[in-house]
Amino acid sequence: AVSRLLAGKKALVTAGGTQEPLDPVRYLGNRSSGKMGFAVAEALREAGAQTILISAPTELSTPYGVRRIPIMTAQEMYDAVMSEFTDVDIVVKAAAVADYRPKASAEQKIKKDGTSRTLELVPNPDILAELGEKKEQQFLVGFAAETEKLYEHAQAKMQRKNVDMLVANDVTQPGAGFGSPTNIVSFLFPEGTRIDLPQMKKLEVARRLVQEIAERLREKE
Ligand code: PMT
Repeated sequence: AVSRLLAGKKALVTAGGTQEPLDPVRYLGNRSSGKMGFAVAEALREAGAQTILISAPTELSTPYGVRRIPIMTAQEMYDAVMSEFTDVDIVVKAAAVADYRPKASAEQKIKKDGTSRTLELVPNPDILAELGEKKEQQFLVGFAAETEKLYEHAQAKMQRKNVDMLVANDVTQPGAGFGSPTNIVSFLFPEGTRIDLPQMKKLEVARRLVQEIAERLREKE
């Protein structure tokens, strides 16, 4: 078990899939259940870190001892992350953030009229990339959900977003990624190290992740 490895540290985790409203009853979303991020929050708290969980809507209950900040949209996640960021030692971005949102959200429920429609999308801020630019003492962990060229795309994300560690999952594999109780991931580090893990329960993946974070933090200090 991971015992008190991170006592005295503060951690921030994001989880779930953001919801981008189209009108009062509809949104653009994705298949993230929040399980991976909630497991990470639980494992960080277990290791003794004071843990904040910024989460999009999910069915899950908040892990014991974790402070949860509920958000809905990418913009709200951005605002919450930026207001907590300066204070923390560890950030883990497990959330699936919408890269785009509808340009406008209708004030009333959109009525059907039998014609086809076009939806205009505008880009959301890339929260992780901005953290990568701003980071000082923070140990920054990103996730990458890929459907092809896993390592190549994950590697590129790690560099572009300037993270200290990247968790890559091929979300097309059975038993991995969105919604599943298990995941199959690789840890990638900027110096080129790669650790491939077998299929594991998300809480076990999270505990391995916490161990790596603790080791790397100790080396930095
Ligand atoms: O929630 P579960 O059902 O348990 O599923 C877990 C998961 C598949 C969602 C999780 O393991 C995972 O891979 N999370 C990241 C999903 C994702 O959107 O990846 P991405 O490759 O699009 O984004 C890369 C990184 O940038 C992520 O850390 C993401 O949080 C971050 N990002 C992306 C876009 C954006 N606008 N802002 C961001 O911060």
